[in-house]
Amino acid sequence: MDDFRGKVVLITGGSSGIGLALAQAFAAAGAAVTVCGRDPGRLAAARGGGVEAIACDITEPDQVTALLARLQARHGRLDILVNNAGWMEERDFRAAPLDGAALAAEVAANLTAHVQVTNLALPLIARGGAIVFVGSGYGWAPWARAPVYSACKAGVRAFAQTLRLQLANRNVAVMEVVPPAVDTPATTHRRVAKIAPERVAAATLAGLRRGRREVFVGEAAFLPWLLRLSPRLAERIVGRG
Ligand SMILES: NC(=O)c1ccc[n+]([C@@H]2O[C@H](COP(=O)([O-])OP(=O)(O)OC[C@H]3O[C@@H](n4cnc5c(N)ncnc54)[C@H](OP(=O)(O)O)[C@@H]3O)[C@@H](O)[C@H]2O)c1
Repeated sequence: MDDFRGKVVLITGGSSGIGLALAQAFAAAGAAVTVCGRDPGRLAAARGGGVEAIACDITEPDQVTALLARLQARHGRLDILVNNAGWMEERDFRAAPLDGAALAAEVAANLTAHVQVTNLALPLIARGGAIVFVGSGYGWAPWARAPVYSACKAGVRAFAQTLRLQLANRNVAVMEVVPPAVDTPATTHRRVAKIAPERVAAATLAGLRRGRREVFVGEAAFLPWLLRLSPRLAERIVGRG
């Protein structure tokens, strides 16, 4: 996929942070972009400049079905689905039992919804299209303070791998983007080195153009090598804290 002009793109969680940067990058490249999220204020701010913003909670299949119906009515197809929406909570299982509803909500937003959105969107995805998952380095080497989030991202990674195998004959690409810490509203409280969300967006579009299966952004690029050379060291470096 080397030309995004006229491509129909849906980005979940495209009203903030990495998703918003992706929406702006795809729109600048000539794509017809739709983003979704829950907060009306963030959606209003994201709308415009080639970006349509629609309210949809990805953990509610009825809302996802309605969103996809609107896309189908307007464009008749979907070329690129970006499963990006998500959030992370730090949780300490030494204080177990934790709140079960909160744990279920985190799994729903960060794993189940991505499987469901993909499942519901697949009939709309055109041949030559692509499905992108915004994963995390914590899906490759988990962070001790975010056990549920890390498990969800590892699940997203495994789902992307299996989907790639199943869709190989349909000419639909499946790509995982693996960012390091990124400067977004979700990370304002974290005192670590962060990269700009625009860098993740640029790497994502470049990865699609080059037909990449995985795109490791910034210092996440060291992860596959470190995991191969010394999984224990990778676990210690990423998992500490
Ligand atoms: N920032 C980082 O350091 C970093 C690093 C690696 C990976 N990531 C991943 O990158 C993705 C985006 O993160 P971000 O940092 O850009 O976060 P962000 O700025 O908080 O944006 C998250 C987006 O997801 C939407 N969202 C959350 N839950 C949703 C739901 N149930 N239904 C629909 N939309 C929902 C939010 O909108 P509403 O809240 O209005 O619904 C918002 O648009 C996430 O998957 C995250 O895990 C982030």
